[in-house]
Amino acid sequence: MVDHNNNIHRSHFANQLNESFIGQKVRIGGWIEDIRDIGRLAFVVVRDVTGAIQAIVTGDNLQLAKNTPRQSAVIISGMVQKNKTKEFLLEIRVEQLIVLAKAVHPLPIDPTGRVESAMDKRLDSRALDLRNPKISAMFHLRSEALHIIRETLRSKGFIEVNTPKIIGSASEGGANLFGFEYFKKKAYLAQSPQLYKEQLTLALDKVFEIGPYFRAENSHTIRHLTEFISVDIEAAFIDYEDVMDIIEEVIRKVAEWLSVNCKPEIKLIGDGQITTLISKSRVDRLTYEQCLEELAKEGEKLEFGDDLSDASLRKLSEIHKGFYFITDWPAKLKPFYIHEKEDDSKLSKSFDLQYGYLEIVSGGTRQHDPAKLRSRLTEQGLNQINFSEHLKVFDWGMPPHSGCGLGFDRLMMVMTNSQNIRDVVLYPRDTERLMP
Ligand code: 4AD
Ligand code: MG
Repeated sequence: MVDHNNNIHRSHFANQLNESFIGQKVRIGGWIEDIRDIGRLAFVVVRDVTGAIQAIVTGDNLQLAKNTPRQSAVIISGMVQKNKTKEFLLEIRVEQLIVLAKAVHPLPIDPTGRVESAMDKRLDSRALDLRNPKISAMFHLRSEALHIIRETLRSKGFIEVNTPKIIGSASEGGANLFGFEYFKKKAYLAQSPQLYKEQLTLALDKVFEIGPYFRAENSHTIRHLTEFISVDIEAAFIDYEDVMDIIEEVIRKVAEWLSVNCKPEIKLIGDGQITTLISKSRVDRLTYEQCLEELAKEGEKLEFGDDLSDASLRKLSEIHKGFYFITDWPAKLKPFYIHEKEDDSKLSKSFDLQYGYLEIVSGGTRQHDPAKLRSRLTEQGLNQINFSEHLKVFDWGMPPHSGCGLGFDRLMMVMTNSQNIRDVVLYPRDTERLMP
């Protein structure tokens, strides 16, 4: 008997109930997690988004409860009373049980987590997977992290902007663009907001954007997705050292906020990470050339201009625990928009923030001289014509500016000690996965 006509509103959430409610009537909405039938009555565990509550079902409701599959959506209303078992301090003596939507069994996964499912199976049933509090805790943490990032940047005078994700030509260069037909023209999905955010510093001074970006990364790894969330910042009249200060503060604020405000969620995901992240007074900053020296001491000989492999980065991270910056990269390893160093044009005013071998942030001081920007495009084999919309802005009094892009999903991997980026993304997109 599915009853749609009743009141669907709740009076309380499970975690609001305490001893002061004894003798009061409440109305809780949630999902049946367990039913233990002992004949004259049944103990029914109902879980809502905040926690679980035990209900005692008798009389006419008993048969209905017994016929209702687990994970069905229900409303129970009744009197709160003291419970004698250890597991629950309170229980609800049910006067009315309304079954709002039946769960059709067999369900694809067990959302209580008692029966474990493989990652792919869980992702195929993500909405149900999230009913497991250990899984949904991750997404509460994500939401809190986004909140404090916005608050921190806004308090520093940054304004939040939204730039197009459908673009007419590449923003970064490189081959990892998704193209598609757009009313008989060729269009692309944005790889980053790089060019727009730079242009916006001309009038808005300090901007940030939190949005999805798209890369045709043909690699199936635990740290690459084809769609990911980036926190991009860009500001006029600052340089890459200032950006490193800002990003360090943002990450520190996230760690502090989560460790103070999200204790239950952190406990659920079983973390030990966040507190150690904030204990370090300043994040190490070492130049690319210092990295080469340190690696040489470890027996790994690299030439100037070689990129740092995962193996090299792992070696460096044994010396520089936790987060560390690598600065002043060879200019040829960095995009056309990065400024060279005045005293050595082979080097650039750039940085990556690393955590172990994982790159979390890339940033730098930008080239704001239009003539130099044009020659950098040519040097990197890019066609100036494709960048004409961008280049014209540089003739309108472009201030010196700097910024960075922070891979938000990767930051959440670090914060929550997750080994796979798919653990921290609701509906990941990779070379194989387009559904759900
Ligand atoms: O290093 P990237 O490519 O830098 C830029 O996009 C520049 N426009 C940023 C700037 O302001 N100079 O991307 C920035 C960060 C990376 O460090 C990484 O954390 C993340 O975005 N990222 C990805 N995360 C998940 N999957 C992918 N395929 C990613 N590609 C980059
Ligand atoms: Mg990078």
